[in-house]
Amino acid sequence: MSMVKSFVTAIGAHLRTLLSGISALMRLIGIVAVCLVSREGTIRTRLIARLTAPAGLRLGFDVLRAFVPNLALRRKVIVAYDNVGTAVVARYQDVKDVLHRDRDFEVVYAPRMMRITDGENFFLGMPDSARYTRDVSNMRLAVRRDDVTALVEPFAIRRASEIVKQAAGRIDVPQDLSLQVPAALLGTYFGTPGPSVRELIEWTTLMFWYLFIDLAADIELEKRALDAAARCRSYLDELIQQRKRQPTDADDVLNRCLIMQRAGLPGMDDLGIRNNLIGLIIGAVPTVSKAAVNALDQLLDRPDWLSSAQTAARSGDDALLAAHVFEALRFNPINPVIFRRAARAVTIAKNTLRSLDVSRGTMVLASNLSAMFDPMNIAAPNSFRTDRQQDNYILWGDGLHTCFGAHINQVLVPSILKPLLTQNKLRRAAGELGSLDCKDTPFPVHMWLEFDPT
Ligand code: HEM
Repeated sequence: MSMVKSFVTAIGAHLRTLLSGISALMRLIGIVAVCLVSREGTIRTRLIARLTAPAGLRLGFDVLRAFVPNLALRRKVIVAYDNVGTAVVARYQDVKDVLHRDRDFEVVYAPRMMRITDGENFFLGMPDSARYTRDVSNMRLAVRRDDVTALVEPFAIRRASEIVKQAAGRIDVPQDLSLQVPAALLGTYFGTPGPSVRELIEWTTLMFWYLFIDLAADIELEKRALDAAARCRSYLDELIQQRKRQPTDADDVLNRCLIMQRAGLPGMDDLGIRNNLIGLIIGAVPTVSKAAVNALDQLLDRPDWLSSAQTAARSGDDALLAAHVFEALRFNPINPVIFRRAARAVTIAKNTLRSLDVSRGTMVLASNLSAMFDPMNIAAPNSFRTDRQQDNYILWGDGLHTCFGAHINQVLVPSILKPLLTQNKLRRAAGELGSLDCKDTPFPVHMWLEFDPT
């Protein structure tokens, strides 16, 4: 009986995949037709805007999952890192598989990471190795899991509440709130306030962009990012020396690193501490801000769910609030794909009809966005639900390189939004101002909201 049930369930899942692929294809044709007849801008800019928007990307991946779930292209989509061509992986199971087979699919970030530090690699750019384990372990001793509730959450709520109060009914979410809170957190929790919050935001944003998003290897961006990296290095070098000259008793990440240095832990000399701090702070500001803004933007598009998130925020149901925020983020995660390079000739989805042989050096784009909408693994993927299991989400990677800040994110992102969500009549400002605006960057720059202060 259970065999029959499994068979029927599998057929049902395949049919759903096929039907959603056909329906997405029809809708994509509709979008292309509208772009052809519309008069705003050129056809190319209209098409790019519609097809690279989160809804357009989701339709594209619906089609891929149904018809070519593992796609090989000769074209090098990513120029910034060496490769011989591109493969796109769209099914949940295969995306997970790529991220977990880290010996077959390697991280590529080392060359740019080493330009950022002017020497050494950082653990996100390393294969599974003794050095990787040493560096991650050291930093886990400095960035502890129980800090999340003891330090991160109360700080974020306090700072976000002050900002919302000062905003007095009108706020530019990225500039005033979602960038400010994680940058200020780096000051109090990491002990790295930067020369100013503005510079810390600018440096981390440019370095993150250069490492993970500058697929086309833009020379101008490289100059700006390496300049930011040089300033960041000098700042951290001086900060470490100053702390040694004038020790403080703050219980922050930098002081914990210095305690480990005094205890003689390998990898914790001044340079080791500085490079690990650079790697962590790059990951902490633009990511958190983008996640908060993307989630809020998706909630604003769904008034019933916005209202339900606000009820959870007001009643202090933090778990339910977080479920709203991360479900919203599923519809527009900060990155639609995670890239890896085939370390040798490998096969994806071996012994299946969608099996794909990939040659050594191929850049593999494992789409976490697509995986989170795969009807083979995700129930009612296009519905907004707050009762999903944790494994429905791939918001911060998977496998060896799963985000170091994953536990922080789960609390920090909802905490940044909570004080704003408790306000009355939360709404977008009129016109273009109220829309999420990235201003030709990969990050939210403006999104003005209004509210009646509580
Ligand atoms: C919502 C906010 C965040 C998102 C969406 C995010 C996303 C990600 C993703 C997708 C990866 C995997 C990259 C890959 O496999 O190629 C990653 C790794 C990483 N993230 Fe985050 N991140 C966030 C916040 C943070 C924070 C707050 C920190 C620092 C405290 C951080 C530090 C790191 C580090 C160090 C890694 C590399 C982990 C390793 O190699 O073992 N991230 N993050």
